[in-house]
Amino acid sequence: MDLVIGPLDLSTHVDEALAVQAVAFGLGQDEVAVRRHIVLRHMTYPGARALGATAGRHLVGFVYGMPNDRAHWWSTVVEPYLRAQGTDAWLDDAFVITELHVHPDYQNRGIGRALITTLTDAATQPRSILSAVDTDSPARGLYRSLGYQDLARQVHFPSAPKPYAVMGAPLPLRRR
Ligand SMILES: CC(C)(COP(=O)(O)OP(=O)(O)OC[C@H]1O[C@@H](n2cnc3c(N)ncnc32)[C@H](O)[C@@H]1OP(=O)(O)O)[C@@H](O)C(=O)NCCC(=O)NCCS
Repeated sequence: MDLVIGPLDLSTHVDEALAVQAVAFGLGQDEVAVRRHIVLRHMTYPGARALGATAGRHLVGFVYGMPNDRAHWWSTVVEPYLRAQGTDAWLDDAFVITELHVHPDYQNRGIGRALITTLTDAATQPRSILSAVDTDSPARGLYRSLGYQDLARQVHFPSAPKPYAVMGAPLPLRRR
């Protein structure tokens, strides 16, 4: 497989990335349209970075994130949950993984692991945080194997039907 992992101009390739996310995570057309605006706004935030995995000329996976800012929407939602657990100091000096998705045809080949470790290896922050649906998923298994631990569980985002877990790991991420 001719697979390349490298920097992704997500503003230019937002539709390809959302097509991957739609099939990997299960997004309808309405949700894709909403996410499109959010991704384009995120790419204007200071320090936002994205990586893509391409097979031939096709984008088959991507990751993006940014330094956390307590004023960002995501941080304001999770903050009370972390504060209740005494873990809200993780919101400072942390690199947030905002999205990580690999097309189902390409999953379980180490692409997700390579994307998230390469992105966080370039972060200057000493830790990384993220949220994932609070269930025993491949994503949760991957994050745990990289050293992410639960900072809060049963976190409810407005309009998201399922609760999330917020996880944090020291950087660099753990190697196998
Ligand atoms: C999460 C995701 C990005 C992982 O990408 P991937 O390229 O398949 O992951 P990798 O092959 O690099 O890593 C696989 C790891 O995931 C975990 N994993 C894979 N399948 C698993 C399963 N069925 N159950 C539990 N853990 C599993 C393991 O920790 C595995 O590590 P290993 O290499 O030691 O076996 C991919 O599954 C995906 O896109 N899922 C749907 C979208 C999603 O949930 N994104 C995350 C949103 S928070």
